[in-house]
Amino acid sequence: MIPFSRITGTGSFLPPRRVTNDELAADLALRGIETSDQWIIDRTGIHARHFAEPHIGASDLALEAAKHALESAGRKASDIDLIIVATSTPDMVFPSSAAILQHKLGIAGCPVFDVQAVCSGFVYALTVADALIKTGTARCALVIGAEVFSRILDFTDRTTCVLFGDGAGAVVLEASDQPGILASDLHADGKHVGILCVPGHVSGGKVLGTPLLHMDGQAVFKLAVRVLEDAARATLAKAGKTEADIDWLIPHQANIRIMEGTAKKLKLPLEKLIVTVHEHGNTSAASIPLALDEAVRSGKVKKNDTVMLEGVGGGFTWGAVLLSL
Ligand code: UT7
Repeated sequence: MIPFSRITGTGSFLPPRRVTNDELAADLALRGIETSDQWIIDRTGIHARHFAEPHIGASDLALEAAKHALESAGRKASDIDLIIVATSTPDMVFPSSAAILQHKLGIAGCPVFDVQAVCSGFVYALTVADALIKTGTARCALVIGAEVFSRILDFTDRTTCVLFGDGAGAVVLEASDQPGILASDLHADGKHVGILCVPGHVSGGKVLGTPLLHMDGQAVFKLAVRVLEDAARATLAKAGKTEADIDWLIPHQANIRIMEGTAKKLKLPLEKLIVTVHEHGNTSAASIPLALDEAVRSGKVKKNDTVMLEGVGGGFTWGAVLLSL
């Protein structure tokens, strides 16, 4: 058995097209939908998001993030022996975006698969990769969150279309003698499927139902605040740590009010909260690794810091990972 898995490199990628709240509001106004920069900032903290061009898929964004993560880990694509992509906006119904990415990286043979846990996808994927490394199935994994949520937004629904963006974040997770992933805690409750879903599906060559995002924002908000605190506390208990041991909190970047609320419940000063939602919007499974990479590259989060990652999203799914970087 391998004692630990540890992150040895991070990377991220945002599609170049940055759309400010004002630009989005002007576009929506043409469709008769009223919103404003002020409303979006006040209720969410979002100032801008990035949208991918129509021909760009989740695997394209994942590829760029993966290249950056490999570079920062000092690894080549040929060193990778496991790829897990967390996404709810895959390139195809099948095969997995991980398989498409594997080919784009120019490698073959290692196991690859997607994880579908919506905005909790990255903490799910990291936990699975950690387990596969500890059992000796892999030694050097690429774990990625990649999304093109702009594809599934209903631009006639102002309560959701202003919230989300596209992007990808990646880590290289390797077998290690030193502690890296310290503990994780994953959950789901399928009775809440209806509060956050894309209810369409493919059948007989047609799309049946609505292939656009539906969310009961207030119901999601209330659940998110509660479960994020529970998951963080459970993860700390599993690792034998307390809130005081957390150097950085990197929650899913959905809404600054939820993020600050969680930090306060954990009695963490807001200086320990990593925030990218203002520039990225909610990039679902990509939001945590995107924020982690930005925090590492800016020099905020350093080697050996103790970092709490927390995800929450459709399913309903939620979970947390505590790690030493
Ligand atoms: O990624 C998975 C996790 N997702 C989340 O964590 C999202 C959780 N939910 C939220 O972040 C918030 O619930 C929202 C940001 C979605 C909404 O914020 P809220 O404070 O819960 O607003 P609300 O839904 O209570 O709406 C307040 C008002 C309503 O008008 P009335 O009924 O008070 O007249 C809405 O119709 O704001 C109106 N409204 C808007 N106004 C301008 C809703 N969307 C907009 C908009 N622009 N884009």
